[in-house]
Amino acid sequence: MLYLHQSNPTGTVPWYLAGVLLSMVIHLGSGLSSHTPPGTSGLQSAFSATRSNSVVGGSEKAMTFNKLLVNTGGDFNPDTGHFRCRVPGAYYFSYSVGKFPNKMLSVILVKNGMEVQAIAYDDYRKKGRKVESQSLMISLKAMDTVWLLLQQSAQYALYSNLGPYITFSGYLVYPEVAAASHHADTRRLSRPRPTHPDCPPQGGEPRYGPNPGQAPDPKPRSAFSVARTSTSLGQSSTAGRPETEKKALTFDVEYVNIGRHFNKTSGVFNCRYPGAYYFAFTVGKHPRRAVSVKLMTGRGEVQAMVFDEDTSKRREMQSQSLLLALHQGDSVWLYSQQDERYAVYSNQGRYTTFSGFLVYPDTWAESTHTHTPQTGRENEWKN
Ligand SMILES: *[C@@H]1O[C@H](CO)[C@@H](O)[C@H](O)[C@H]1NC(C)=O
Repeated sequence: MLYLHQSNPTGTVPWYLAGVLLSMVIHLGSGLSSHTPPGTSGLQSAFSATRSNSVVGGSEKAMTFNKLLVNTGGDFNPDTGHFRCRVPGAYYFSYSVGKFPNKMLSVILVKNGMEVQAIAYDDYRKKGRKVESQSLMISLKAMDTVWLLLQQSAQYALYSNLGPYITFSGYLVYPEVAAASHHADTRRLSRPRPTHPDCPPQGGEPRYGPNPGQAPDPKPRSAFSVARTSTSLGQSSTAGRPETEKKALTFDVEYVNIGRHFNKTSGVFNCRYPGAYYFAFTVGKHPRRAVSVKLMTGRGEVQAMVFDEDTSKRREMQSQSLLLALHQGDSVWLYSQQDERYAVYSNQGRYTTFSGFLVYPDTWAESTHTHTPQTGRENEWKN
């Protein structure tokens, strides 16, 4: 299925090269000069920018911005719309764009040239204005560039005003660490450890913490971000049996999976480190189908959902996000209504995404949670 509605990206090589060269010039001209704060703040990177006027397809390739709200580390250039990675690590990006009356909307988050990461899309060519959003976490190396690719056809346009409707934000969640094995999951750490250049055998001498042989885990990390490249059609249970098990929406593209706590084959995130987690998801609406997708915990406790019962032939998206206080063993997953009226739309443009990451680990064994969704064990909800 066509999602780009434009010529093959390989046809735009000259432009792409021009873009790279231009970026290099800009970088050499201004990027190296300053902006990098000294000391630990050198590990910080965050930006947020808005745009208060509309864009018609063809006038710009990369979305640019006229108001910069935050630019910690100076890695975002609002005039080019490019975020250039200085601190390698896992970054969370989110963007929202307004749909222009009677035009279609398509904005793709791309990395290094035109590698598609995720799309915000709406082909409902009616008069109404509205806002579509998308978000995901990706892993970046130094000098990687991330920006928002606009459609080059005049059938597309984005709306904004002093409101503004158009926003783009990103921030470093987890800087890359030299010894990535520190952040592998606890099971792996408790096994006999393979020799690692940074971790010489420790001869029984506890170097960290009270448990000899147990690796330190000073900063637990857990994050995943995944996407679907195909549609999932809801199906009524024709076998005559009621839907006893709610199957999680599964994913085929994995952007990050720090700790490997998310299983894209089963679609289930399993909490290993108790704490406060942020979750966000965006789903595409399939032509002629409604959308109903719920964020579930445990056996199927609904925590948040998106819904659109419009069964017109338009495609668009719905987004949702929240924080959850999780205990070890809690599972989190998405459930798409299993009924022929419903579907989750996606294609290679990656409309449908799901991300989550540990914001603050619990520092006490008994935390100060006032509410925890469910303390189910892994896959308990399936049984
Ligand atoms: C992921 O889920 C699939 C399907 O439920 C299962 O077969 C597989 O063993 C799981 N992988 C891991 C690493 O748990």
